Amino acid sequence: MNALGHMRQEPELLPDAIEAAAAVGPRVVCAAFVGDSQTRGVVRAACERQFPRHLVRDGGTREALEYLAENEPPRVLVVDVTDSQNPLNAMLPIVAAFSDETRVVAIGGVNDINLYREMVEVGVSEYLVKPIDEKTLLGAFSRLHDKPATRAPEPVAGRRSLIAVMGARGGVGTSTVALNAAWLIAEEQKRRVTLLDLDLQCGTLALALDIEPTRGLREALEHPNRIDALFISSASVKLGERLTVMAAEEAVDQDIHYDPPALDRLIHALHEQSDCIVVDLPRSAAGARTRILAAATAVVIVTDLTLPALRDSIRLLTLTRQLAPEARIVVLANRTEGRQNNVPRKEFERALGHPIDRILLEDGKAAAAAANSGKPLAAASPKSRTVASLRAVTRTLLPIERKTGPMRLLWWRRAS
Ligand SMILES: Nc1ncnc2c1ncn2[C@@H]1O[C@H](COP(=O)(O)OP(=O)(O)OP(=O)(O)O)[C@@H](O)[C@H]1O
Ligand SMILES: [Mg+2]
Repeated sequence: MNALGHMRQEPELLPDAIEAAAAVGPRVVCAAFVGDSQTRGVVRAACERQFPRHLVRDGGTREALEYLAENEPPRVLVVDVTDSQNPLNAMLPIVAAFSDETRVVAIGGVNDINLYREMVEVGVSEYLVKPIDEKTLLGAFSRLHDKPATRAPEPVAGRRSLIAVMGARGGVGTSTVALNAAWLIAEEQKRRVTLLDLDLQCGTLALALDIEPTRGLREALEHPNRIDALFISSASVKLGERLTVMAAEEAVDQDIHYDPPALDRLIHALHEQSDCIVVDLPRSAAGARTRILAAATAVVIVTDLTLPALRDSIRLLTLTRQLAPEARIVVLANRTEGRQNNVPRKEFERALGHPIDRILLEDGKAAAAAANSGKPLAAASPKSRTVASLRAVTRTLLPIERKTGPMRLLWWRRAS
């Protein structure tokens, strides 16, 4: 018996794919979240017969989501949806967090053929109505391997996605997050991305990538009629097939005055050449910030856990909710290790009124390797755990969609 209590080895009843998965490591093959003790007992008995490594917990859709946010998706997920008023909506973020091989069995309280069809449409393999018995559940398990695996839906191509990354304090890793998110979307999600460093004077992206700084960006942002496709292609650097970078190093002897329509025009022109724009937003340019936030489809607030950072995270979050009410908001904590003056996570979250979606691990070795090679962290050290967290967060930044009958559903993938 291992640390998860009710797991044991009994491989003979496994479908092939599940058996193969079971052989490679201690990954949970089936995870079940069930709200009432009677159904939980049935699920536990069926799981013990069917799966070598399983866990059965008290819970429902919320607990399943929490589990998926922290763990590798299991091959089979059993979710009690009776904790939700709207089971279909509750299942959407769960489906979005699947791996390609996951099959889901939903257990509900409503016997409705339309709900059943909609569940199947969004990717649920089996929908069972309470009360269930062991035989019914085993029957559902045995049908799972005949069904095509639930495919994680792909991010929407061609939508005008703009990801704004901003830091609550200086040096918290904003540029690191922006650069790696852009690189991961371009290289792993295969989207055309433009990475725009709006700190025209002291931005670090050109330096980090060891590229020639963009010339003319300042004039363009002061004189919008200069912005056209020709300007953009001459003012940007292409890295690989899909990533384009605009990052300047303007003189530091004068303030830069962004002409707001110029910024709009630049964003419009960049949308023409890319599926997604990632903006590294400096803390100094308030005018640019409001303009970019208003156009953002996702906003990442990077913060450490100090009191000043909490104050400024609250202000940035409030501004984001005002200017980008529809945008996906992600709060990332970074540079938190080895500090005496951290606010405890729970208190930070309570004061902020938003969860910290991820805490990035400190990886000085990987950061140094990236800096020395002029590459993003994700390219220089793809196996770093910090990169794994960045990858999981980045997967949640582009909206995904699935057609359900006449409906088109758009939602955000959760970190998994
Ligand atoms: N998780 C991490 N582990 C180790 N080093 C990190 C981590 N995150 C960021 N760094 C390093 O911290 C330094 C500052 O990062 P970065 O330039 O991304 O911060 P920033 O918030 O953009 O700073 P600024 O406010 O100056 O724009 C860099 O040297 C970067 O490599
Ligand atoms: Mg920076």
